[in-house]
Amino acid sequence: MKNKNYYVNEHAVVDDGVEIGEGTKIWHFSHVQSGAKIGKKCVLGQNVNVGNNVTIGNFVKIQNNVSVYEGVTLEDYVFCGPSMVFTNILNPRSKYPQVGSEYYIKTLVKEGASLGANCTIVCGHTIGRFAMVGAGAVVTKDVPDYALVVGNPAKIIGWYSEAGEKMEFDDNGVFVSPRTGITYRLVKGIVIEEK
Ligand SMILES: CC(C)(COP(=O)(O)OP(=O)(O)OC[C@H]1O[C@@H](n2cnc3c(N)ncnc32)[C@H](O)[C@@H]1OP(=O)(O)O)[C@@H](O)C(=O)NCCC(=O)NCCS
Repeated sequence: MKNKNYYVNEHAVVDDGVEIGEGTKIWHFSHVQSGAKIGKKCVLGQNVNVGNNVTIGNFVKIQNNVSVYEGVTLEDYVFCGPSMVFTNILNPRSKYPQVGSEYYIKTLVKEGASLGANCTIVCGHTIGRFAMVGAGAVVTKDVPDYALVVGNPAKIIGWYSEAGEKMEFDDNGVFVSPRTGITYRLVKGIVIEEK
């Protein structure tokens, strides 16, 4: 589209009443539905659907073949791997459809979290800040900040820093990120950033 400070491929569809931030790119065969808000410098790959009223933060990357259904919120710097799956109805029945915002169960993906290729997020859960969800995982519970989860059902098998380093904690439960200098502390099964 010309005269816009974002890019929408000619084979993508953006409905009326959508907000798109500066520098965002929306590629082939993607569809953004009305009421959606997408922040700045995001990339929506091929065949991405953004449902009605969905909010997506800044610097979010959504790889090919992902549907961000109504009820899902993505904060800044979230990464959605190719063909990963969100859901918004827990017990769907075609014969007894639950259609409308009041039925949709919410999912929140916090800042910087990465969702691996082909994983599934069962609705009603929060993925913590900078959490790492492995490829193919099925998330059925909230995921704590910085947690690495894999498998079906997804279980915590480790911890990842903001910059994507696997965290090995010393005897005091401390990890200092070589890349960012941030200090993390593992306390009672939760990782916190030390300020
Ligand atoms: C989850 C992930 C980040 C873990 O990487 P890692 O920290 O280097 O972990 P390792 O390879 O050391 O594996 C640790 C254990 O977890 C298992 N594991 C790793 N990834 C797994 C996954 N996605 N599902 C199930 N088990 C997994 C390994 O088999 C290994 O098991 P073992 O200890 O019994 O041998 C990585 O495997 C992954 O899935 N990344 C997502 C890739 C992706 O989707 N990218 C999208 C952009 S292209």
